[in-house]
Amino acid sequence: MTSEPFTLRWGILATGGIAKTFTKDLLVDPATRSATDIRHEVVAAASSTSASHAQDFLTFLNLPTAKAYGSYAALVSDPNVDIIYIATPHSHHYANARLALVANKHVLVEKPITVNAAQAQILHDIAREKGLFLMEAVWTRFFPLATEVCKIVEEGRLGEVKRVWADLSFWNDVEREFGVGHRMVNMDLAGGALLDLGVYSLTWVFQILYHILPAAQKGNPSVASSITKYKATGCDEMTSMILTFPPDGAHGIATTNIRVATDVNPEHPSPAPIRIQGTLGDLTIAAPCYRPTSYTLIPASSASRGTPASFSYQTVEHEVPGGGHGMFWEADECARCIRDGKLESEVMPVEESVAVMRVMDEVRKQGELVYSTAFESVEWGE
Ligand SMILES: NC(=O)c1ccc[n+]([C@@H]2O[C@H](COP(=O)([O-])OP(=O)(O)OC[C@H]3O[C@@H](n4cnc5c(N)ncnc54)[C@H](OP(=O)(O)O)[C@@H]3O)[C@@H](O)[C@H]2O)c1
Repeated sequence: MTSEPFTLRWGILATGGIAKTFTKDLLVDPATRSATDIRHEVVAAASSTSASHAQDFLTFLNLPTAKAYGSYAALVSDPNVDIIYIATPHSHHYANARLALVANKHVLVEKPITVNAAQAQILHDIAREKGLFLMEAVWTRFFPLATEVCKIVEEGRLGEVKRVWADLSFWNDVEREFGVGHRMVNMDLAGGALLDLGVYSLTWVFQILYHILPAAQKGNPSVASSITKYKATGCDEMTSMILTFPPDGAHGIATTNIRVATDVNPEHPSPAPIRIQGTLGDLTIAAPCYRPTSYTLIPASSASRGTPASFSYQTVEHEVPGGGHGMFWEADECARCIRDGKLESEVMPVEESVAVMRVMDEVRKQGELVYSTAFESVEWGE
């Protein structure tokens, strides 16, 4: 006898670009990715401007029976909602996530989880205390390719991993495309390359040099970094970080930039943005690193030492099924964790989101990049 799939009922908080992409993915039939144990239902959405704006969002997504709210507070009070997906600018993640947790809702909050580590830690504490699920929406980690890559490293197939390079950068005409008000560069929305894009470079470094280590070996990395600011707003337009991880001093080199690109010309592919270097060879991951669909194994080889690795040169391709973007895998993780009474995901634990935020705090300290007191603060009023 097959049991009914567990249904997770979503409330979407914000109506912008990524809220649309994520919600579309919730509507993809889970069977297209062989998920038969869970399903998703979008029961409501809220806009901070008006209920009619939220209604437009739901109409666009062809969700005629979902409820439209004109305030985030009304959404989190809806008894039919199990989990709130937060897709506001970074500056608002802490306040919005706290609002949802206080209203006893589980939370999936877009990356970066908050503006700083202190805020992330408070969300973690509240979720724990209230027995609620909390996760940062680092969707990349839930791609089957990411799981496969971590397994290859964990099994020691690359030998001892000594260095991970990771870049996420975009070639923008910053003045023309963003000006000063766009959330990518607006300091009042916690703009800048680091928090928006650098978080992906860091997630790859952390997955390999932190996440998969046994608990006793895990430790915070030391950080050396450099920031160059966008003169018009003061946000970071270019940030480079060298992290040194315990226990053996492996290096993670994480970079991000909003003026030069990881992949600069579609006709002439650039070197892979993610390069994991072990003593037996490399594993590279093709762009885009946030939506990974191809990796290559390259065994180390020389005339004198031969080719000691157990793998041969090969490229492995994956597809994102069901015509989706690939955000449904993180949603499935939320459903399974909540069904099973887990307060956090083992793939993206909140403790690790806090550890990554701690690195970003240190990088911003070294580069003297401070957001307004209102958004750095842990104070919160309903
Ligand atoms: N995972 C990913 O691949 C991915 C991709 C892009 C962005 N993101 C993350 O998602 C978040 C939102 O990004 P986005 O690209 O969707 O941004 P966006 O298109 O500008 O949408 C943000 C939405 O937040 C709401 N909002 C509330 N207060 C706001 C304020 N003061 N200023 C502007 N908007 C406000 C607005 O919706 P209502 O007021 O109508 O509710 C707005 O439409 C960011 O934290 C970003 O890092 C993730």
